[in-house]
Amino acid sequence: MAIISTAGLARTFTTKRGPVEAVRGIDLTVREGEILGLLGPNGAGKTTTLRMLTTLLAPTGGAATVAGHDLATDPAGVRAACGYVAQSGGVDAQITVREELVTQGRLYRLPRARAGERARELARDLDLTELLDRKCGTLSGGQRRRLDIAMALTHRPKVLFLDEPTTGLDPGSRAGLWDLVRRLRDEHGTTVFLTTHYLDEADALSDRLVVVDGGVVAAEGTPAALKQEYGGSPDASLQDTFLAVTGRGTTPADAAPMTV
Ligand SMILES: Nc1ncnc2c1ncn2[C@@H]1O[C@H](COP(=O)(O)OP(=O)(O)OP(=O)(O)O)[C@@H](O)[C@H]1O
Ligand SMILES: [Mg+2]
Repeated sequence: MAIISTAGLARTFTTKRGPVEAVRGIDLTVREGEILGLLGPNGAGKTTTLRMLTTLLAPTGGAATVAGHDLATDPAGVRAACGYVAQSGGVDAQITVREELVTQGRLYRLPRARAGERARELARDLDLTELLDRKCGTLSGGQRRRLDIAMALTHRPKVLFLDEPTTGLDPGSRAGLWDLVRRLRDEHGTTVFLTTHYLDEADALSDRLVVVDGGVVAAEGTPAALKQEYGGSPDASLQDTFLAVTGRGTTPADAAPMTV
């Protein structure tokens, strides 16, 4: 069953220098319980797509449903069904990890005692228990990322959107996050829609990949199918496959000489 489905989803930004067509018509479906990896070069439209699917940004074209709720007619239903970890998270530096988690629970209308309990559960799952009474401003990059994710899980969303969740994480924290994503899927049936520039991560974690380039879907399929189709063999590297899809191989012929 499709839990996310988009048809011609598009977003054009109006700027002083004219329109920027960030997303030019994306058609995709995600099955319930699937881990979908959204790949694409910088500026391809990944973050813009996630912001539309989480109702943070209104589409300028097309339509989408998330967990049965239409983006245009039932944005509150969409918001209740999804959690979102933005590419750069925003937490308040002055308050503690516990206060941040409790406040998030209260935003989702949990009674105070339940919000405190949920904060402890999330801290345990995200390995933040030791840090509950630390000010958010003192956390390391990886610790802060885990807090961002804990906050997005407060209301047990059916769909979790993660925009570059492991950027800046050390190898141990990254492995921990992969485990968490798999556990969310296996134990709670959560659908995970994530973007990443780490192709090893996309390969290891995703059931299916969608590659966007220039605001449209350039390729999609299981990692093995994409490697077969674009890399010539199911054992091709995802790096070579990605470069073949996006045409961004740097052969000496297209490398411009440096001017400085
Ligand atoms: N508010 C905005 N106003 C104008 N242009 C924007 C705005 N937000 C995004 N864009 C442009 O839309 C395009 C897509 O941006 P987006 O952030 O979706 O890319 P991305 O695939 O997430 O890239 P990255 O891998 O660098 O995070 C880019 O050209 C970007 O400059
Ligand atoms: Mg982005």
